[in-house]
Amino acid sequence: MSSLRQKIEQEIRERGTIPFSRYMELCLYDSELGYYSRNAEQFGKAGDFYTSSDVHAVFGRLLARQFEEMWRALGSPEQVDLVELGPGSGLFAQDVIDWSEKKFPDFFRALRYVLVESSPALRRRIRLALAHHLESGRAELASLFPSGEASSHNPTIIFANEFFDALPVEILSAKGSLRIDAHNGRFIEAWVQPSPEELEFLDRNSVHPEPDERVEAPLAAQQFMNRIAAGISRGFLIAIDYGYTREEQLAGRHRGTLKALRQHSVSSSPYEAPGEQDITADVNFTALAAAAERHGMQTHKLVTQSQFLLGIGEGNQFADAFEECRLPQERAKVALQLKHLVTPAGMGESFQVLIASKGVQQERIESLSGLNFGRRAIAR
Ligand SMILES: C[S@@+](CC[C@H](N)C(=O)[O-])C[C@H]1O[C@@H](n2cnc3c(N)ncnc32)[C@H](O)[C@@H]1O
Repeated sequence: MSSLRQKIEQEIRERGTIPFSRYMELCLYDSELGYYSRNAEQFGKAGDFYTSSDVHAVFGRLLARQFEEMWRALGSPEQVDLVELGPGSGLFAQDVIDWSEKKFPDFFRALRYVLVESSPALRRRIRLALAHHLESGRAELASLFPSGEASSHNPTIIFANEFFDALPVEILSAKGSLRIDAHNGRFIEAWVQPSPEELEFLDRNSVHPEPDERVEAPLAAQQFMNRIAAGISRGFLIAIDYGYTREEQLAGRHRGTLKALRQHSVSSSPYEAPGEQDITADVNFTALAAAAERHGMQTHKLVTQSQFLLGIGEGNQFADAFEECRLPQERAKVALQLKHLVTPAGMGESFQVLIASKGVQQERIESLSGLNFGRRAIAR
């Protein structure tokens, strides 16, 4: 069997140079040899990176609390679809469903949890981890986001944690748009005239690169958001990710955020060991919010993961985290994990939360605890 490097070289021989986004797509999602298709562990200590669900179940539990509030804001409908994009190992879904069953029985009865995961290897893991909920019909597993007629007419909550940062991006510099060529067993960078779509993306949502800079044009993320926002008849979207706004780029930050990650450190090049390392680019929230708005969604102020989780948890002093703790040492350990999720030194400030809604009353949105950190304390 050939390696992924050989497979990509073969495609370049047949098609000519390929866009960087195609290179990234093959590295991450080739159906046999892509990073997310392998059986090796990507998540947690044994893998290449931690996501919030790997830190502690409290992340899913706090989100369950927020989803339940959103369900009430939608008028407590008999059925609500909670669609998770790119659920990975399914750990988050498990935490949300289990906590809802235990703490929010009315919401749990209405809940249909749909996991949309494109990787066959990860779908196999999800089938094992969530066997009970899949058999009972509480959860469903899909490989594609349902579009058009296939989409449900139930009120919907879409959730995406570290999903948009894993979608392929185009890369632009003052030399043009990046293409990948292969020569003597090495990948070589070449530049072509940017497409009108890429230039329009930079004009509207980003910045034009200075001579020594690169910036990304996340066109696949835009297309995905277009489909989601157009497909939802009524409901909410929560997207959590590393990211930035156009204003931050104009202030000189986040110009060029592409990273390759392996065993918890940043690797020197995305062209090393294709298929064996993760490749990600921070999310352009200005662009995502604009795409949602173009399809009738209302977007709300961007908050940090820290503000968002503190807003949800402050009402009961994070009782969701400490539920199983009996001994002081156990409480101390969980307190540290919680701290990692909310403090600036941990994941609290690097992750941002975009909330969008469609067909929901303004005062209902404004009362969501995740958007209200600190406000309650002032009102008391
Ligand atoms: C960085 S991982 C995040 C996993 C999980 N959300 C977490 O926080 O642990 C990105 C996930 O998105 C999935 N993915 C990427 N593109 C997808 C697509 N078009 N449809 C469904 N899933 C996709 C990947 O296979 C992977 O599981």
